[in-house]
Amino acid sequence: MEDVLVQSYREKFGSFPEVYSSAPGRINIIGEHTDYNLGYVLPTAIDRHVAFLASKRSDGIVHVWSDSFKQEKRFILGDEGESKQTGWIDYVKGVYWVFAKQGASLQGINAYVWGDVPLESGLSSSAAFEVSIIHALNALFRLQLAPLEMAKLAQKAENEYVGVKCGLMDQFISVFGKKDKAVFLDCETLEFEYIPLYLEREGLRILVYDTGVRRDLATSEYNKRRDEATEALKMLADSGIQSYKEINLAKLDEKKSGMGETLFRRARHVVTENERVKNAVCALRSADFFEMGRLLFQSHESLRDDYQVSCPELDLLYDCGKQSHACLGARLTGAGFGGSGIALVQKRGLPSFKKMILDESRQKGFETPSFHDVEIGEGTRLHHTCLD
Ligand code: GLA
Repeated sequence: MEDVLVQSYREKFGSFPEVYSSAPGRINIIGEHTDYNLGYVLPTAIDRHVAFLASKRSDGIVHVWSDSFKQEKRFILGDEGESKQTGWIDYVKGVYWVFAKQGASLQGINAYVWGDVPLESGLSSSAAFEVSIIHALNALFRLQLAPLEMAKLAQKAENEYVGVKCGLMDQFISVFGKKDKAVFLDCETLEFEYIPLYLEREGLRILVYDTGVRRDLATSEYNKRRDEATEALKMLADSGIQSYKEINLAKLDEKKSGMGETLFRRARHVVTENERVKNAVCALRSADFFEMGRLLFQSHESLRDDYQVSCPELDLLYDCGKQSHACLGARLTGAGFGGSGIALVQKRGLPSFKKMILDESRQKGFETPSFHDVEIGEGTRLHHTCLD
């Protein structure tokens, strides 16, 4: 693939690329809507990437060809302005905009983008895209950014330019992911630890179920949940509680009456989900995949009932998971409202589990879902180019 992309770049722009970066999408094993609440998450990178090949130009034009969209777009440096929400080029503009705000002076580029992270599926193709651009520009203009700075800049582009008030999880895992490992990240201190996840030798797979549901409301509802969770924490601050990590369910219950039902539920999800992440890490350390599965189911219940970010198509995965002997656990992954879910499934039971999901979807009149066969992959990297 590497050679093919370099050749494609060459055909498009008449020279070899000076840099070639790639960055992966992700699945989140557990710890949903906890990142911006400064709690715990446990994501893994997947073996699906966005690749960004680029060379400097001597003028201020940014000229990008997207292989996925079979489209080319250009803009002039300084014209990044506010996001126009005109599509994929906004991610490139957003990154340039963030760099300009940091005072970095960049030149124009010719760039070629390719990717196999499914788009708008809740597998973080946008974080992968942002990180791949930042990594390439970092190398091209010798900006000497540390890995954590790359992740934070990508998040800033998404928050302030694209307009999604996401946490740091997706960008972080796209930078720091490692093969066969999940990353146990404390989103407050940003301390992290690699947790081995050897599914193959246990005869297990993570199935990614893509509902095909893309909700326009996803961004506004996502931002709304974030505001509600912040609001709930503010109410707890009166009792001296500064962070969701400091509180347990019993303490939260005592505060229930003053909070109102909705805010209480949002807070309860965050508090219990943080606990589940810690328990999941213990389960993985002792290779207790049945316990792991139970935690996945509980996480989904909490996201469905308390945080209210599920949808009927995602609930279908959970329901099938509960009925199937082959499935140890299942839950929505990522923001929710559509997108994808994951299921921990015994390898030999995979075909019948998939069939069960397809039959149920048909019966309910849902759009036909798809399945993505993913492995746990590495974080962002620079590839060798002919000019190295
Ligand atoms: C999206 C966001 C992440 C995180 C998840 C929910 O993927 O980009 O920051 O909040 O939703 O856990």
